[in-house]
Amino acid sequence: MSDFESTLKIYQDRVNQALQNNLPEDNRSKLINAVRYSVLNGGKRLRSTLVYMGSELGKQNSQASDLAACAVEFIHCYSLIHDDLPAMDNDDLRRGQPTCHVKFNEATAILAGDALQPMAYELICSIKDISDSTKVSMMKKLSVACSVDGMVEGQMKDIESRKDFSPDDLDLMHQQKTGRLIQTSLELGGLLAGIDKIDLRILKTYGEKIGLAFQIKDDIIDIESSSHESGKPQGSDVLNNKVTYPYLVGIQESKERAQTLTHEALEILKPMKLNTKNLQSLAAYLVNRKY
Ligand code: IPE
Ligand code: IPE
Ligand code: MG
Ligand code: MG
Ligand code: MG
Repeated sequence: MSDFESTLKIYQDRVNQALQNNLPEDNRSKLINAVRYSVLNGGKRLRSTLVYMGSELGKQNSQASDLAACAVEFIHCYSLIHDDLPAMDNDDLRRGQPTCHVKFNEATAILAGDALQPMAYELICSIKDISDSTKVSMMKKLSVACSVDGMVEGQMKDIESRKDFSPDDLDLMHQQKTGRLIQTSLELGGLLAGIDKIDLRILKTYGEKIGLAFQIKDDIIDIESSSHESGKPQGSDVLNNKVTYPYLVGIQESKERAQTLTHEALEILKPMKLNTKNLQSLAAYLVNRKY
């Protein structure tokens, strides 16, 4: 394990513990079992890591960053449950295990996703020692990132995507369905840290770049990584006739675009006076991942 992978593991362990602490207890209902199953089944925990990395750029409040970290993972997990449904990507494997609708049933999976969304906002409401206006800003950012100009619109474009999509259409779809939550996770951390507007703006632009690179890489992984490596069905995009980066520009150009975006993200961080070492390593790590 590289030094940076050990650093990532610390963040993953931290959010996994926080998720255990902030989920309703087991066995009370089928709905809770489905929620717990879909949240506690691993994952890279990228979005929570971004909350932590953002929050470490300024003043520290560990309860606040834990709750915000759990909130973005709740939203992400809801999006995965719904993404896998028969009406969406119809996938049966997630994080190396049966998807929520396969393990439980379709109605339970829809409802588990539904429950996770308000649960995320409830967690942000319960953060102590930050102002109400900071909480409202965080909830506003998260709502905008996930709604009709954000993740859900991106998912809508994904299921309606047409073969005459232009590269700009594809960029927008990828930014909406995946980039916005990634970017917003980092901004939530920055808001908790109390960093100034200029630095927040830099984080936002860095987040945009790595968010788009992340989905391009996800499209590449769908082709190149085995199901064993990725924990997801290999070739799902081709099977579903998805318009992806490799489909539109080919695998080589997709890889180059992901590398270019990563390079741009690193350049964007340069004027920052704060310690961005982890953010630099993260960008490089994400573009080289296999899952
Ligand atoms: C998968 O996200 C869905 C996308 C938005 C591309 P991740 O690759 O972050 O999934 P986990 O959380 O690690 O399983
Ligand atoms: C998923 O994109 C995006 C969201 C869940 C919002 P994909 O459909 O490519 O994600 P995977 O490959 O199933 O993880
Ligand atoms: Mg999808
Ligand atoms: Mg999918
Ligand atoms: Mg994918």
